[in-house]
Amino acid sequence: MNVGSGSERRRYPIRPAQADDYDTIIDVWRRAGLAISTTGRESRQAFDLQLSQFSGLYLVATAEDRIVGTVLGTHDQRKGWINRLAVVPQYRRRGIAAALALACDAAIRAEGIEIVAALIEPDNLSSIALFEKLGYLADVPARYFRKRSRTDI
Ligand SMILES: CC(C)(COP(=O)(O)OP(=O)(O)OC[C@H]1O[C@@H](n2cnc3c(N)ncnc32)[C@H](O)[C@@H]1OP(=O)(O)O)[C@@H](O)C(=O)NCCC(=O)NCCS
Repeated sequence: MNVGSGSERRRYPIRPAQADDYDTIIDVWRRAGLAISTTGRESRQAFDLQLSQFSGLYLVATAEDRIVGTVLGTHDQRKGWINRLAVVPQYRRRGIAAALALACDAAIRAEGIEIVAALIEPDNLSSIALFEKLGYLADVPARYFRKRSRTDI
């Protein structure tokens, strides 16, 4: 699987996210077109708490020291999850998301988790193509049910 040459990997180094990356990460998500819940699970306070639990799984890719891509890995001991994989538009199709997903997957597995999954909306064709390229198999279609405690999260 070719997800970018060695020189590309050196151009876009991946490092663990830090608490003071919060504003930039939110900005990257905005530029990537993701819906953001800064009053709930993506508030600064929530981010800090999550970072303390998943410090090695929250990763950012950089270009000349600026964050251009993100991935948030989590796990519940049974299964790992790749969330918030995003790259700003100007830096797409350079293998950055693939490198982030692979790094996150490896970091989750290093914690003893043997299944890593991602939830992708059916019309997100670029993301589907990416995970297929990385060897993830689409499981049986499922409906995603949720119950929110508040409407602003
Ligand atoms: C999905 C996303 C993260 C991909 O980022 P990226 O850095 O451009 O992806 P990569 O360059 O690593 O792509 C790796 C492979 O994925 C596939 N892929 C990525 N974008 C694609 C697109 N727009 N169309 C078709 N295939 C695509 C290709 O197979 C690509 O390999 P190739 O360039 O050698 O053909 C980016 O488009 C994005 O931020 N989208 C908005 C946020 C989002 O939807 N995130 C996913 C939530 S699950």
